[in-house]
Amino acid sequence: MSRTNLHGGDLDEIARIYGIDKSKIMNFSGNVNPLGLPPSVKKAIAENVDIATGYPDVSYTALRAAIADYTGAKAEHIIVGNGSTELITGFIKAVMPKKSVIISPAYSEYLRILEQINCDVVLYPLDEERDFVPDIEKLPIDDSVDMLVFCSPNNPTGTYFTAEETAKIAERCKKHGCFIMTDETYVEFSDPSKHISAAEIADTYDNIAVVRGTSKFFACPGLRLGYGITGNREILDKINAEKDLWSVNVYAELAGKVMFTDRSFIKETIELINAERTRFYTELGKIKALKLYNTQSNFFLVKILDGRTTSREVFLELIKKNILIRDAENFPFLDETFFRFCILGHDENTLLIEALKNIFE
Ligand SMILES: Cc1ncc(COP(=O)(O)O)c(C=O)c1O
Repeated sequence: MSRTNLHGGDLDEIARIYGIDKSKIMNFSGNVNPLGLPPSVKKAIAENVDIATGYPDVSYTALRAAIADYTGAKAEHIIVGNGSTELITGFIKAVMPKKSVIISPAYSEYLRILEQINCDVVLYPLDEERDFVPDIEKLPIDDSVDMLVFCSPNNPTGTYFTAEETAKIAERCKKHGCFIMTDETYVEFSDPSKHISAAEIADTYDNIAVVRGTSKFFACPGLRLGYGITGNREILDKINAEKDLWSVNVYAELAGKVMFTDRSFIKETIELINAERTRFYTELGKIKALKLYNTQSNFFLVKILDGRTTSREVFLELIKKNILIRDAENFPFLDETFFRFCILGHDENTLLIEALKNIFE
């Protein structure tokens, strides 16, 4: 079997299928910060390993206060979960939409959960002609739509809504009784001058929830810590009523209390991502057969323009060198000319740049 569009987290599966050593894979598919766990988190866990003998705080008061300080949202509007994944499910099941719109191509979990609850789902396409930049005027919102879901910056396109645009969408949705869920898993990688985060809007409007994770920016997908922000008390109460107790474990709880204040880790991450993002634009910009879309995240969507090479072939060529990219062919509205890769450390990025030059030049 050969599958080229597996999720970036499926490293065991990839190692097995391609007969490679998992520890040798350079994972350009997972979108995880290459700096690894923040030193503050490592230290806190190492020094407090025995906390596993106790339960976490069932209401996560200190953790929610730490998230409030970090995001500027009110602690009483914050809910924590087992990764952003638990909250994506939680918000969808609390709203229980009969009809929803997902701005696509997008992360696949929204569709999976909406289909589980038998929701009628409209996939609204981002326009390739506009380089996937969304047009807020054209969103198909009317009285029949109960929920609008989007990701900003969006996985896989890297495009985004500004907070101002999201506020406009929230106003419009309010008139139609439509609840918005925006996934900001990648927002910390974006340029602060773009004002992308809708955290403050979610704090004031009652028809919008922001979902955020720590897996990508703080490089801890194994810890499973995510959070949601909404000014809608009823929705928060519904999620809390449905949710299992203690779904965030003690190590994630502790990590969350220290990571958001690790200024040097945050600064180092932004500097690395900005420098390497510029280098990718410059170096891959020289390859005529590739188009890189503008991104406000730590990954790039790429289109192959030569009319003959497919993303699957690129994947297979690169995996021979232990380089794992995401074949983006199976995202809605994309095809076999698209792939995605994320920014890793300088040396690994050099290997990817060289390997792509070898394929396309
Ligand atoms: C857009 C998006 N949202 C959510 C997730 C899941 O993140 P978490 O580990 O916080 O559950 C991912 C993982 O790839 C993602 O790309």
